[in-house]
Amino acid sequence: MERSLSMELVRVTEAAALASARWMGRGLKNEADDAATTAMRNVLNTVPMRGTVVIGEGEMDEAPMLYIGEELGTGTGPEVDIAVDPVEGTAIVASGGWNALAVLAIADRGNLLHAPDMYMDKIAVGPEAVGQVDINAPVIDNLRAVAKAKNKDVEDVVATVLNRPRHEKIIHEIREAGARIKLINEGDVAGAINTAFDFTGVDILFGSGGAPEGVIAAVALKCLGGELQGKLLPQSEEEIERCKKMGVDYRKTLIMEDLVKGDDAIFAASGITDGELLKGVQYKGTYGTTHSLVMRAKSGTVRFIEGRHSLKKKPNLVMK
Ligand code: FBP
Repeated sequence: MERSLSMELVRVTEAAALASARWMGRGLKNEADDAATTAMRNVLNTVPMRGTVVIGEGEMDEAPMLYIGEELGTGTGPEVDIAVDPVEGTAIVASGGWNALAVLAIADRGNLLHAPDMYMDKIAVGPEAVGQVDINAPVIDNLRAVAKAKNKDVEDVVATVLNRPRHEKIIHEIREAGARIKLINEGDVAGAINTAFDFTGVDILFGSGGAPEGVIAAVALKCLGGELQGKLLPQSEEEIERCKKMGVDYRKTLIMEDLVKGDDAIFAASGITDGELLKGVQYKGTYGTTHSLVMRAKSGTVRFIEGRHSLKKKPNLVMK
């Protein structure tokens, strides 16, 4: 993959964030998602690549755009797998909450896990704790391991967990261990990425969320030298069948190489609403300001980019 692709891809997430953020707090999550999806698709089709969506908005018969198998790009350039989440945290945008992102990941063709749309159990850490945690080990052991790796006491460790009844046991175990918790209402992609940035104050992510989000977060952590381990959690016979059909073993512990193969992948995200990692979109008159993160695994380059966008030529973004 050309290194210039990184810059092309950040234009894609910027466009999605600019379009979606107009719906902030309006209580309309589908509209927020549609706006981001349309913008993301339009800009992806200007990128010099031969891309195929492997993680997207759904199967072809349920999603008109960015469906699994859709081919995107100008039709020249590298052959790549694309994973998109135009709005990671649709309910966040609808309520004007914390941490909604427009995200995108690409890797050479065949290198991203085609994750079925179901739950995945996850554990994620930043670079200092790589190789020290194990999704199959007790919570307390993982907290001790991350504390040791980061030269902290367990009481100083901050674990982030989606605030869901299904996580009651994990939350209880973290509390018993004496560690601190940051409960999040949505958005475990940001939750996983935050473990790799000290300024977010988060050391480890525990718990289950979407499997597609797990693959996207794994690409981000690959770029950052962190780690995510996952286990698919099919909830029904039908979901087990879906795993079989897709050739994914749901009993297997998925390590980084299963989630994103090889040493090259690119991740881009733009903030839609404010979060620990990125600020959300701000509009003023004829300008919109975006904050983005774009990273490439091969070079290890991590860029935070602030963009100022003229909305004059984008009348659809000026809601009056
Ligand atoms: P959406 O953007 O599809 O709304 O997903 C938000 C999210 O919070 C993800 O970050 C997370 O992986 C998943 O939903 C958790 O699912 P659930 O809300 O069913 O617990």
